[in-house]
Order: sequence, then structure tokens, then C-alpha cells
Amino acid sequence: MNQTFYVTTPIYYVNDVPHIGHAYTTIAADVMARYHRSAGREVRFLTGTDEHGLKIDKAARAQGMRPIQLADQVVERFRALWKRLDIRFDDFIRTTEERHQRVVQRLFSRVRERGDIYLGEYEGLYCTGCEEYFTETQVPDGRCPLHQRPLERMKEKSYFFRMSRYQEALLRHIEEHPDFVQPEIRRNEITSFIREGLRDLSVSRTSFSWGVPVPDDPAHVIYVWIDALANYISALGWDGSDSGGELFSRFWPADVHLIGKDILRFHAVYWPTFLLSAGLPLPRRVYAHGFWTINGEKMSKSLRNVVEPHALIDAYGADAVRFFLLREVPFGLDGDFSHPALIGRVNAELANDLGNLLRRVVTVAEKYTRGEVPTPGAREGLEQHLVEVGLRAVKESAEHLENFQFHRALLSIWELVREANRFMDEAGPWTLHKEGRLERLNTVVYDALESLRVIGVLLHPFMPSTAEAMLSQLGLRPEQAELSRERVARWGGLAAGTLLQKGAPLFPRIEPERAQSLLGQFAPAAQEAKPSQPPPEKPQIAIEDFQKIDLRVGLVRSAERIKKSDKLLRLMVDVGEAEPRQVVAGIGKAYTPESLVGRRILLLCNLKPAKLMGVESRGMLLAAGPGGERVVIAEFAGDLAAGESVH
Ligand code: MSP
Repeated sequence: MNQTFYVTTPIYYVNDVPHIGHAYTTIAADVMARYHRSAGREVRFLTGTDEHGLKIDKAARAQGMRPIQLADQVVERFRALWKRLDIRFDDFIRTTEERHQRVVQRLFSRVRERGDIYLGEYEGLYCTGCEEYFTETQVPDGRCPLHQRPLERMKEKSYFFRMSRYQEALLRHIEEHPDFVQPEIRRNEITSFIREGLRDLSVSRTSFSWGVPVPDDPAHVIYVWIDALANYISALGWDGSDSGGELFSRFWPADVHLIGKDILRFHAVYWPTFLLSAGLPLPRRVYAHGFWTINGEKMSKSLRNVVEPHALIDAYGADAVRFFLLREVPFGLDGDFSHPALIGRVNAELANDLGNLLRRVVTVAEKYTRGEVPTPGAREGLEQHLVEVGLRAVKESAEHLENFQFHRALLSIWELVREANRFMDEAGPWTLHKEGRLERLNTVVYDALESLRVIGVLLHPFMPSTAEAMLSQLGLRPEQAELSRERVARWGGLAAGTLLQKGAPLFPRIEPERAQSLLGQFAPAAQEAKPSQPPPEKPQIAIEDFQKIDLRVGLVRSAERIKKSDKLLRLMVDVGEAEPRQVVAGIGKAYTPESLVGRRILLLCNLKPAKLMGVESRGMLLAAGPGGERVVIAEFAGDLAAGESVH
């Protein structure tokens, strides 16, 4: 196995302050870095900022600043956020640093020495938002497909990179290294893009000067994407030679570039062809995750729905935010952010499952084993089962993390959390105490405490402060050695006689009043929104009329798309009956199926069943909004039981 691990995030543009999209990639990278550290590898985790290019230049001017002033300001915002989110990077690179610019020039020169750079003229439609040219066929309406703004026609002398030369070599590389672009759907996208034919790439600009000059021709600045991508090796101090210098030879090629799907082509086509030309090894993996929408809508300044991470941390704490982002959506897929969903997970999984487990086990130990870790006796079937579940969680959570399946890793850990809660119910320490079966009582308390230790270690990469608080309550000092995967894989790591230190509850429940106030605080845009059409007035009804309606809290157990429909989803909803009900809902444009699982929706249960696209629906999910992408479901923020009647 590889004994080093090099993980990177994109370097973020400084024309904008950080939002949860940026936080998402960075948290994922931090979890990977922490996990690999705990597995004993030498880890390098790099993040940073992308500060050159026309976009930054324009944004700075608009605010009456020089670009470097704007960059200096915004970089501090990023750093402050990473600090609050407990992001432990090893290096932070800024593209305006000398150490970076030097490497960009070296790389450019090396590619030029290979005969892969020539001078030509470029004319095209340019989007400063993307820092990219488009062809007329790509954009028949002359607008940027991403930013929807009219493109600018630009013509300039430009250096070109012979990207076309590397088409076959790159295809072969992807074929031979199926892990190179992940997930699979992204690999397919990239292979078809390459098969359509790679054209030479314009890699310099003369229309502005905020960038790294082309060596020997300073009228040109190097294309901002080449500048930006080079950060992955400039931060390792690549010295221009094949071996590359100390850090480079130790950590390159990167084990993974974590990115959002928006910048896949730059990482899976431009960057590798550049490296091929330079004769440098390609990164082992480029993993593109999906995009977050907010209550089903695209996150954008004009919709005033950008989720500001500092406010989220103030409201819920850094660990809850870290947990939610990785638990809610399978890495690789798009997902939807909503406060009710976040509150639901804090209450159900963090407060009820995890927080309660710690509190009840430590309380029992205080009462019956003098607040210390007892010496266990012989294990019975019940304990053996707990140990099995514990060891399985250790193994499976690691496997899922190796595959970037963060939500699955958390699910594996939660199997142990739930099992440990069940174990406490079934083993009944209070009865054992009453009956004077002290040896058995000691075994039960020991194994319950030991499962908490295992959970603490496994959770550490995801929620470092929470895990450290858990381990300190168990009387451990959460240092590197305690956190090692090797130790956690051996049941019995807690030493008898260790003094416990009961502390504050991990996650207090968010009670309904607090939930309501949070929803109000975070919903200014919604409050100001006008209904798409004023609803027509309807005749009054009596309370008896309303009582005919069977409205219930429905807990969404699973959800999937209905084939051949982009709008319809098939949900299995628990409404307190023996079996969940199948419900068809037309919300597929606004919500991904995965984002609905675990939510508490409002379901009309006694509507006559109907068939939609051949699928029977036994109930109607309530929602509001103009429809399509802009529909918002009604849901409960509190922890209500499935099937609770609504009145
Ligand atoms: N500067 C370039 C990247 C250069 S890397 C050599 C850039 N910067 S960015 O500030 O726009 O950040 C883009 C990245 O932010 C995405 O790839 C993704 O990691 C993250 N996200 C931005 N918005 C997002 C969502 N709505 N959802 C999830 N992640 C998002 O592009």
C-alpha cells in the first residue's frame, strides 16, 4: 500500500467570499486527509486560492481596489472559515506567491521546449466568468451556457498548446486506469468529450496583464487555468527537473484531486495533457462531486439564497455542518441543502443516537462502576454480537472512505451507534446491578464504553471536536496514537481503571421553538418572495370538512426516479402503518431522490389512489411554489414520529 497520500481541493477564486459549495470540497478533503493520517500514512493536504485573471481584475476594479488588495482581503475570509471548520491543511497556496509563479513559468517553458507551444491568433466568444472561449456552435445564442450573460467577441495573438497531439495518449491512459476519472458517469463524459476531438488550446492572453507573464514574451500572460492547475505541483516546489525536488518526488503524483463537476474538463483533459507534454506523471485520480442546490434551487447571489457558512456554524456548530454535508448526499451526486433536513439529522442522528448513547453509558458507569472503566469478565452472545458489529464498522467505514463514499462510511459507523444503544436496552445494566450480577455488569459496561471509544476514533475524521470530546469523557487523551486505525481494530483498547470524565452533552436537541426561529432567521428570501399567482378565494369550510382529511407526518424511507420522467419520483413513505406507502410526487426537477430520504413530509393519506406513468400513488405529498425546479415541499423540522396526525 502507498505510504504517502496527497489530496488537493480546487483553489478558489477570490472574487467572491466562500460559500457552502467551497466548504463541501474542503471538508471532504479534510476527512480524507485525517482518515489517511489515522491509517499511518504520510499525508499532504493542499488548498489555496486562485487570484489571477480577468475575472478577479474586474471584480477588484468594480470595488475600487487593486486585484492584490481584493485577494488579500478575501484570502483571509477563506482562511478564517477553514479555521472554524477545523480544516487541517498542510499547505495553502496563493497563485500570486513567487514560489507559484516560478513554477508556472517553468512548466510553460518545458512544454514549449517539447515543441508543444506555437504562436497563433485567437478569435472567439469569451466569458470572463468561466475565463474561457466558446465556439459559435457551442453557443448559438451568444450567451454563456453557465452564466447566461452575453459573451464578448475577442481577437488576440495567442500562444497555443498542441493539445490535439495528446488525444490518443490520454484516451489510452483513461482506459488503462479506470480509476483516473471518477465517478464512472464523469469518466464517460470525459471520454466522449475527448473522442469528439481535442483542439489546440489557447494558453496566453494579451488583453489584460493580471497574471503570470509568458517567459521571454511578457506582453502575454499565461492562461489563468494553466496558471491555476500548476498549483498542485508548485506547492510541492517542483524544481523543473524530472525528479522534481524533495517534496515533489515524495508526493507527486497526487492521490486525488477533489473537485466539483463544474471544473472536470480542466482537470481531466487540460491538466493531464499538459503533464503528458511535460513528461510528468498524471494524478492518480480526479474525483468530481455533485452540486448543492438550496431548497431545490441553484445557489446564486441574485436569488439571495447563498448559504453563508459562518452563519451555519454559528447556528449549528462546525461538526454538525461537516456531518450533514457528507451524510446527506452520496459523494458524486447532486444534493439539496435545506435547514429542516439539517435540523432533522442533528436531532435524530447526532442528539438522539450518538449524544444519548454517550450520556447513558457514562451515567451507568458513574453509578455502577465508580466512574471508571471496569475489568470485563467472560463475554456472552450479546457482547460478542456487539464486538462483531464494532469490528465490521471499523472495516467497512475504512473501505467506504477508500472509495470516497463518505455517506456510506457514516452509515457503517451508525450501525455500531444503533447497535450499542440496542445493547444497552437489552443488557439492562440496572437489572444486573439489582440482581447483584456484578461480573456480568462489568462486562456490559466495559463493552459499551469500548464501543464508544471505537465510535470516537472512527468519527474523528468527520467530526474532530465531537470525537475528541467523546474520547475525553472516556478518560482518553485524543492524540495521534489513540486515533490510529491499527489500535481501533483491536477490541479492548480501553484500560481497566481509567477514570471517566463526564462532560456536557454532545449535541443538545434542537427543540421546535428553536427550530422555528432558525428557519425564520435563514429564510429572508422566502419571506420576501411573492406567490407566483395569488390563490383564488375558495368558499369557507367547517371544521368537520377539514377533519375528513387524513393528513399525517410521513417519513421518507426511500426514493427513486420513475423511468422516462424527469419530474416524477417514487417515494416509499412511512405513515405509521405496517408497510411504507408508495407515493408518486412531481418534484423530481427540484429535488434529487437521495436528498429526500429521512425527511418528514406532510402527506395527504386518504386521497383516492391514482396511477401516474403506470405507477400507483397512495397519497399526495404537499408542496408549494410555481412548479418545476421551483417547488418546495412542506416538511417538519421537529423529530415527530412517522404517522403522527396533522391537525
Ligand atoms: N479557481 C477555479 C478552480 C481552479 S482549480 C485548479 C474555480 N474556483 S471556484 O471558486 O469557482 O470554485 C469552484 C469549486 O467550488 C467547485 O469545483 C466546487 O469544488 C465548489 N463549488 C462551488 N459551488 C458549488 C456548489 N453549489 N455545490 C458544490 N460545490 C460547489 O473554479
